[in-house]
Amino acid sequence: MLRVDIITIFPDYFREAFDYGIVRRARAAGLVNIQAHDLRSWTSDRHHVVDDRPFGGGDGMVLKPEPIFAAVESLAGANRREQIPADKRVVLLSPQGKQFTQSLAAEFALCEQLILICGRYEGVDERVAEALVTDEVSIGDYVLSGGEPAAAVVIDAIVRLLPGALGSATSATYESFSDGLLDYPHYTRPPKFEEMEVPDVLLTGNHAEIARWREQAAGEKTKRNRPDLLKD
Ligand code: 6GU
Repeated sequence: MLRVDIITIFPDYFREAFDYGIVRRARAAGLVNIQAHDLRSWTSDRHHVVDDRPFGGGDGMVLKPEPIFAAVESLAGANRREQIPADKRVVLLSPQGKQFTQSLAAEFALCEQLILICGRYEGVDERVAEALVTDEVSIGDYVLSGGEPAAAVVIDAIVRLLPGALGSATSATYESFSDGLLDYPHYTRPPKFEEMEVPDVLLTGNHAEIARWREQAAGEKTKRNRPDLLKD
């Protein structure tokens, strides 16, 4: 079973985050164990201080290294990147990270343990990224106020790839990004809704024709919405 440990200053953010749909079913089936931990529980001072002012000046506060190193040590059994076994990943969620992609999700889904450190947008002491973390990851080119929503996104993308998490064994292979294209358009009843009609070919039952239409439609949608995916 995949173990996912989230280190956060807002553990309550995740109170119901994994209680819906496929993620809920995967947890119930014992495919994954997800726990959110309060970073403050690894402080040793009376006021449980997790942040401090930036050296060199500037706005905002920076997350201190000591509680984060202590948290990873207690959750992974080591607090240096070189000592983390290959089947565990220590992930820092930050806008400075490499792009989170479907292929990174698939890599993470093969792990035994994932430790997700939620940064805050002002910053995390860089020694965390330098010496502790195996992967610094961003979910896209925009700024969130903290890594918590990014952690929820990353976990969702990983959990649905765990063997047995999806109803049908083939569902995860025929969709956006597994073939480098966006998914094809879907329709359901009614065949005519306020003058808008479902493409005739989808009503014919001709599966070869339908497959050809879907491939074509997926290509057109990709060209329109994500031309960058077609560059190579
Ligand atoms: Cl992982 N964290 C923050 N704070 N902002 C982000 C992000 C992560 N990914 C995109 N923007």
